[in-house]
Amino acid sequence: MKVCIVGASGKLGRYMVKHALDRGYEAVGVCREQSVGKLDEFKERITIVPGATNDREVIKRAVAGCDGVLVVLVPRGVHHYSSGTAQAVLDHAEPGARLVFSCGWHITRDGRDVYSRKLKLLVTVGGRLARLVRFADIDDQVEACRRVFASDTRWTVVRGSDLEEGESQGLPVWSRHVGDPILESNLTRRIDFALFMVEALENDELVHEAPAIVGRQTPSALAHAAASG
Ligand SMILES: NC(=O)c1ccc[n+]([C@@H]2O[C@H](COP(=O)([O-])OP(=O)(O)OC[C@H]3O[C@@H](n4cnc5c(N)ncnc54)[C@H](OP(=O)(O)O)[C@@H]3O)[C@@H](O)[C@H]2O)c1
Repeated sequence: MKVCIVGASGKLGRYMVKHALDRGYEAVGVCREQSVGKLDEFKERITIVPGATNDREVIKRAVAGCDGVLVVLVPRGVHHYSSGTAQAVLDHAEPGARLVFSCGWHITRDGRDVYSRKLKLLVTVGGRLARLVRFADIDDQVEACRRVFASDTRWTVVRGSDLEEGESQGLPVWSRHVGDPILESNLTRRIDFALFMVEALENDELVHEAPAIVGRQTPSALAHAAASG
């Protein structure tokens, strides 16, 4: 399997590169020119295509011949970085390729997610502030996901909880809607978020799903496992 990791130099991206290589996949990484050095530990083992992830020509070159594309949807800046990245991947990925996108719980596919007051406040106030100082545009990540949901590609949108660093606890568990009790702990190790993304490439049950994930060793996940025997 040949996979492209779009946003490979970030924390999530580097974990995805590692998981992909551990599985014996051939990997192509896309990252900004100034971040190529962050991939030094992999440089003998992956092909790096430097450039902005919303540059259509860069993406076209990087995804050519790939069976799967893993995409870090970053809402950085206020110039449609996320939606530009998503659109380039949707337009240029090989027909039938598995496309797996990352975002946060705040993205909703069907409007049936139930959010805590804290998360709502964070998205509304934090989102406005971030846009005001031109740091990030959460609405653009929403637009990116809207385009993915509407596409007829073989997509999965993985919605991450709050993240932490640390050793792997194994594959996160998931549910269709934020607010489901299994997700209550709202914490996932970043290394396992990446694991879920990479595993999704070969899990057809996740095609056209937007799983919200949580660490499998968190109290809410353990309580759910105990209750279901
Ligand atoms: N952080 C959280 O708690 C959290 C929670 C839920 C979901 N998520 C989702 O998880 C994914 C990755 O999040 P993360 O926090 O782990 O971040 P991360 O992996 O460290 O990724 C940050 C990404 O942003 C890029 N970036 C940084 N500054 C940029 C700029 N000015 N312009 C363009 N790109 C820029 C980085 O590229 P360079 O390497 O080139 O700098 C990198 O690809 C995202 O899809 C996010 O929505 C995060």
